[in-house]
Amino acid sequence: MTNGSKKVAVIGAGNVGATCAFVLAERKVGQVVLLDIYEGFAKGKALDMSQGGGVLNYDGRITGTKDYADIANSDVVVVTSGFPRQPGMTREDLIGKNADIVSQVGEGIKQHAPNSVVVMVTNPLDLMTYHMQRVTGFEHSRVVGQAGILDSARMTHFIAQSVGCSNEDVQAMVLGGHGDTMVPLPRYTTVNGIPVSQLLSDEEIEAICQRTASGGGEIVKLLEKGSAFYAPGSAAAIMAEAILEDRKRVLPCSTYLSGEYGMDDIYIGVPVVLGKDGVERVIELELAEKELESLQGSGSFYKEQLSEILGY
Ligand code: APR
Repeated sequence: MTNGSKKVAVIGAGNVGATCAFVLAERKVGQVVLLDIYEGFAKGKALDMSQGGGVLNYDGRITGTKDYADIANSDVVVVTSGFPRQPGMTREDLIGKNADIVSQVGEGIKQHAPNSVVVMVTNPLDLMTYHMQRVTGFEHSRVVGQAGILDSARMTHFIAQSVGCSNEDVQAMVLGGHGDTMVPLPRYTTVNGIPVSQLLSDEEIEAICQRTASGGGEIVKLLEKGSAFYAPGSAAAIMAEAILEDRKRVLPCSTYLSGEYGMDDIYIGVPVVLGKDGVERVIELELAEKELESLQGSGSFYKEQLSEILGY
């Protein structure tokens, strides 16, 4: 049975947005609205997904629209609208074009879903999350970015492959910005409680950390057109579900820091408790000097970009 009292809007009906909406529909979290500038694109995908309910046994309303009035009363808005990377591009190369889209979408959310929690997916993630908070003026806790779940899932997959175990038994932790400066944390990574260092060599772990950091780029190169969407869309859906169902999940998310980890006025990936009010608590891990340096280095990189490119 779908939770009829909850409503989630997904902005952008492209690869990431449609995947996210599909996962949300399958998990029966509530009413799903898919919004895109191309109305037929959103409506067509919503109809296709609605018909899929007959195959996969979910009900509920999945609708497509280009009209922001239709996102009214959404509890959560997931924002995926924007350009994806192409081969040879960094996520930061998307700043200018995607900042304009985020400004436009943010105005629509502010006007029509003023009480929602916003989950950002558009890249460059940490910068676009900061920008969205500024555009909407929402409390910082109600604007949060998806990246850590995806980056940790990538690390999880590589560890499971190397150990020869199930993904389900790996808990990996990746902090920092969603880009080349991300900070995989093997010290906080376990296989059902067993420190990963007892199962893999230092060299194997280092290779996994590197492959995780360039995990998105590896897919962009293979696809030759566009970027990853199954894992990113699913990760955004899991965040939306945690908020809609007040699950209080502990997940690494791009969140606003005001002093935690020695950083201020920045969005960056750290573990948080995610519930109905968005980010309900930031968890401060005890980090070794080198780990903290890497995290703060990632923060400084984005801080520079915020001021130099976005003028904050
Ligand atoms: N309002 C609503 N939708 C928009 C707007 C806008 N102003 N501008 C663009 N879109 C829509 C496009 O019409 C398109 O359907 O956003 C969608 C983007 O879909 P894709 O091109 O398939 O891109 P996708 O792979 O989904 O990536 C979207 O997520 O992971 C990030 O880096 C990725 O920034 C990119 C975003």
